[in-house]
Amino acid sequence: MHIVVYSARSYDRRFFNAANADGRHSLTFLESRLDVSTAAAADGAEAICAFVNDCLNASVLLRLHQLGIRLVLLRSAGFNHVDLASAAALGVAIARVPEYSPYAVAEHTIALILTLNRKIHRAYARVREGNFALEGLLGFDLHGSTIGVVGTGKIGGRFARLMAAFGCRVLANDPLPNPELRAIGVDYVDLQELLCASDVVSLHCPLTPDTRHLIGSAAFAVMKPGAMLVNTSRGAVIDTRAAIAALKRGRLGGLALDVYEEEGDLFFRDLSEDVLQDDVFARLLTFPNVLITGHQGFFTVQAMTAIATTTLANADAYARDGRPTHPVSLERVA
Ligand code: NAI
Repeated sequence: MHIVVYSARSYDRRFFNAANADGRHSLTFLESRLDVSTAAAADGAEAICAFVNDCLNASVLLRLHQLGIRLVLLRSAGFNHVDLASAAALGVAIARVPEYSPYAVAEHTIALILTLNRKIHRAYARVREGNFALEGLLGFDLHGSTIGVVGTGKIGGRFARLMAAFGCRVLANDPLPNPELRAIGVDYVDLQELLCASDVVSLHCPLTPDTRHLIGSAAFAVMKPGAMLVNTSRGAVIDTRAAIAALKRGRLGGLALDVYEEEGDLFFRDLSEDVLQDDVFARLLTFPNVLITGHQGFFTVQAMTAIATTTLANADAYARDGRPTHPVSLERVA
């Protein structure tokens, strides 16, 4: 199958070429993001492969359909960036990678919490400057603290287990509680109670109309003063402007982000020579208690290998049976 891979970076080439070592697919890698102006580059292909910040709205899907594309291979678990109703109406199959390494994102979440709590990012810079003072580096024991996990699916569930192993009290909120987590002592409570009681709140729910700005001014008003908020799910689960207001008031003690509402214009590129145009993001960077990584939670060797292998297995299944192994549709998500 001829597949055009959008938003491709050197690491995508490396892992996709390895998964396609037998050359059964013809892969064309494009650096550009998919949008209505770049869709034409898929002319002549049978499928396209898209990442989290590619645009798959109604007009892009229509354009792809006109070019003969009938299969969109998402190399992500999340599919909030796809207009599924339009895809269904056009008969374009959407495939995703439902699970590649829950460990990768759960472990990155812990890296963020430990770094922000113990101020490792500041300590690293200080020590290199010959400054060994400890003022400003005070943290708290995670052991004995209360961690609130919003969304206990594959990633949130793994994260909850790791936090339990640290000796934390783990509260969780999910419309579908997991009995295995209950069995290890995770306490399912409503969101309000979780926000009120947690020293650290970590978001692992998908972005849906229900979860957009789930954490906004009302949530910050009830969160424990000085608590830490961590988001490795999708940026728009947090109302960033409300988070900035809570940071300015000192109400929010720390904010760790691997995702950002408007990350599409920033992440996965080297913009170090450019003038930052996003004033909200620029404001976030001024806080000493804000730590941001550029959507790298998934970025481990194991996860990248699984992403490439599963994406091409979706293409294999579509070529063989007319249906990918892991389809996403309005009715059913595999
Ligand atoms: P999953 O589908 O296994 O789990 C999501 C959980 O959230 C489910 O248990 C679901 O019932 C729950 N949920 C849904 N609505 C909720 C609500 N309103 N409140 C509380 N819980 C709710 O998904 P998985 O694999 O654990 O991934 C979670 C999210 O992590 C993905 O949707 C994606 O946005 C993000 N992600 C981020 C990555 C990164 O590199 N930072 C990489 C992979 C995923």
